[in-house]
This record gives sequence, C-alpha cells and structure tokens, in this order.
Amino acid sequence: MKENFWKAYQPVFALAPMEDVTDTVFRELILELSNPEHLHVVMSEFTSTDGLCHEEGRHKVAQRLQVNESERRLLQEKGIKLVAQIWGTDPEKFYRSARMISNDMEFDGIDINMGCPVSKIIKHGSCSALINDPERAKAIIQATKEGSPGPVSVKTRTGFNEVVTESWMSNLIEAKPTAITLHGRTQKMQSKVPADWNEITRAVRVRDEMHVDIPVLGNGDVESLPEALEKVKQTGADGVMIGKGVFKNPALFNEGYPELTPKEKLDLLWKHTLLFTETWGETKNFAILRKYFKIYASGFSNASALRNSLMSTHSIDEVKEILEMFNINENRPEPSPVS
Ligand SMILES: Cc1cc2nc3c(=O)[nH]c(=O)nc-3n(C[C@H](O)[C@H](O)[C@H](O)COP(=O)(O)O)c2cc1C
Repeated sequence: MKENFWKAYQPVFALAPMEDVTDTVFRELILELSNPEHLHVVMSEFTSTDGLCHEEGRHKVAQRLQVNESERRLLQEKGIKLVAQIWGTDPEKFYRSARMISNDMEFDGIDINMGCPVSKIIKHGSCSALINDPERAKAIIQATKEGSPGPVSVKTRTGFNEVVTESWMSNLIEAKPTAITLHGRTQKMQSKVPADWNEITRAVRVRDEMHVDIPVLGNGDVESLPEALEKVKQTGADGVMIGKGVFKNPALFNEGYPELTPKEKLDLLWKHTLLFTETWGETKNFAILRKYFKIYASGFSNASALRNSLMSTHSIDEVKEILEMFNINENRPEPSPVS
C-alpha cells in the first residue's frame, strides 16, 4: 500500500476536480502560486473508465490524465499529491482502469466520481446515479481497491433526489475507501442552492459512530482558507476541498499572499496562454482557453473591456496583440515570457 496521504495533514486542503478546468496546465499555475502548507492534494479532470478500457477511446481520454514535466517538478518540489479521478458503471472496468493508472502513470491516488449530476453523464447509472445503486457503488470501490496499491477515495453528494447523507455514508464506509469528500448538495439541487454544511457534520458523525479512521472532507461554496478552517471547526471534518474559489483568487491556497496586481494577473493570463498552446496545440479547442480569461482579466480598471476583447480571440497571436495594446494603453510593461 502506497502512503495514505489523506491522513498526513490535519486539516487537509485539496483543489477540487473540474472538467475542462483542472488540466495539467491550470494545475501548474495554481501549484506555482500555492503554499504546500495550504494545499496538499490536487485532482485531474474526471476520466471515463469506459474510455480508458477501450483501445481507441483511450487516446481520446488520455489528455485528461496528462501530466507535464513542469507540473511534475512542482508537485515533487512542494510535496503535493496528484490524484486521478475516474467514473463509470462497471466494477471490472474500474479494476482495469485502476491497474492501468497504477502501473503506467504516476498518480498518488485514485478518486471515484460518485457526484457528477449532469444528466447525459448519469443516464447509464454512473456518478451521482450510484447513490441510487449502493451495492454497485460498493462493488466499484472494492474493484478499484483491488486494482490499485494506492489510496482510493470517493467524491460524492448528499443524495440523489432526497438528502440521504446518513445511509449513503454508512454504505460507502462499509466498502472502506481511503477518504470521502462530500459535496453538500444532492444531484437534484445541482448548484441551485447553497451547499449545506450541516450535512457534512452529519457525515462526520456517521463515520465516528462506525469507529473507522476514514478522513471526511467537506466541499461546496468555500472561497478562502480562513473560511475552510472555520468549516473544519464547525463540522469536525478532516479537510476541505475547494473548486470555484480559485477563479476569484488563484492564490487562494497561499494564505497571506498579497492580492494579485493587475500586472501579475495579465502575466498569468499570458503564461496560461503559452502553456496551453504548447501543451495542447490543436488537440484542444481554443474556446476552452478563452473560458479561463475571465479569471485573470477581472478586478481592475478596464478589465471588462479587456475581457470582452479577449473573448473574441481565436489564436495566441490575437491574444498577444490585445495584451500589447492593453499594455500600451495602460503604460504597463510586457507580460514576462513563460519560464
Ligand atoms: C466547471 C466545473 C467542472 C467540474 N467538474 C467536476 C469533475 O470533473 N469531477 C467532480 O468530482 N466534480 C466536478 N465539479 C464539481 C466540483 O469539484 C465541486 O464539487 C463543486 O464545484 C463545488 O465546490 P466549490 O463550490 O468549491 O466549487 C465541477 C465543477 C465545476 C464548476
């Protein structure tokens, strides 16, 4: 058994998996800004076990599990763990995917997605639909553990139509995953209501009553580390996973880091553009890159005009041109090149 890093930190702070966001490029930028005392685990985008187990499909999903050398170096330097998140319905494919990831790729752990609420994903019974199929969920955890010598965690929600935190948590705990992250909403709630952290308190209580040593992390709507610490105190959770909070503050996992200046934000935007282009070339649509621009082009004068211009770009040259114009207009030096 590889190191169970989920238990190595008290509390543990993690960057949430986000489809089309937390690829190797974005993780590298976040890792660079983060303090290893404030960020312990980062996750890949969710990756289909059907895809991984399919001879041709494997190439299509492979970029979700790509790790650039430059990201790898940062992970090692800072001692931050990288977890591959997978999803599907067939325990056998989870077993095979877990073996593939453990044997051929350098991840520190595997996380099973039992939370995604998107209807086209869950229609065959995967992700949050597993909440309605507890026996299959347990079989999937078991099979993944058999395929992986490392930690196998689960990320899930408080229910499907109804909140069933207690019965669902005890079902999961029976299969003994290494850690559980609970997002305080049901599938039906999607993201329409605030996350309910009272359910995280309930989940911790279930874990304690079952006398097992499985870390429980809470997730949902946390936007800063002080807020995360407050949630830990309030709920007894072992840690907090944060997703969208990094859109407002990419240096969120570095408490005390001064607010990013407009120049730093634009340097990051340029660095992201270069690294994205270098890493993905033509294999990812430029529209995916454009979505990140609003993270960086915000919170300073003329940011919305800049954002609007950037949203109409289709190439790295167009981005460069707009940033240069903006620099001239704002009398700001050029973004520094990627290191
Ligand atoms: C754009 C986006 C993509 C997401 N993709 C995933 C995913 O691939 N796997 C997953 O478990 N959760 C995914 N989530 C859910 C987040 O991991 C997290 O549970 C949710 O955003 C609530 O946490 P937050 O309020 O800190 O963002 C995604 C969320 C967003 C906004």
